[in-house]
Amino acid sequence: MPKILVFAGSWRPGSMNTRLATLVAKKLAAAGAEVTQISLGDYPLPLIDARAFDNDPPAEAKALAALVEAHDGLFIVSPEYNAGYPPALKNALDWISIVRSGGPGLRGKVVALGGASAGSLGTYRCLTQLRTVLELGFGALLVPEMLAVAGADKAYGEDGELSDRRTAGFLDKVVARLIKVAAMHP
Ligand code: FNR
Repeated sequence: MPKILVFAGSWRPGSMNTRLATLVAKKLAAAGAEVTQISLGDYPLPLIDARAFDNDPPAEAKALAALVEAHDGLFIVSPEYNAGYPPALKNALDWISIVRSGGPGLRGKVVALGGASAGSLGTYRCLTQLRTVLELGFGALLVPEMLAVAGADKAYGEDGELSDRRTAGFLDKVVARLIKVAAMHP
């Protein structure tokens, strides 16, 4: 079974996207994947600029790049900021891209995307941008389905599951697809 790394683009206390990432990690594990969930907040990084090419990268960037390379696939759960994805997420991805560890980084890595927002579009606008950047800039392989959870502040039942059956079913579909495609591209 593939090894999947899960993280959210927000790590604030009470983050809706961290909550969704935790549910995603649970579903991936239940479906048989070997799952690692991290918080990007545990890898504090300075804002990147082109000096990154000349200097030894921070240990946190090296650790993130090593984690990515040690997994067959990623599930990234992103908040939406003004119809885009958060700068902290792009910063982390950019740092991963410049670490020269001898490995492929995100190139050829299978990635699934999700996001949670209280709004009615459920981060879908940001996910389309994140998808484009990951494909064109990072060379990642994106699974077709993207999980956008709208009304995420009221989306969970008392059992901690997504209460809307269609959304819950779609989560299972994305999880199954990620496991299947990641197993094909170890
Ligand atoms: C937001 N938020 C937001 N939500 C949305 O659905 N569409 C949007 O375009 C925006 N824009 C936006 C800009 C900025 C600068 C912030 C800080 C927030 C609201 C956002 O979805 C909300 O704060 C979430 O709670 C953030 O995700 P976490 O931290 O709960 O995971």
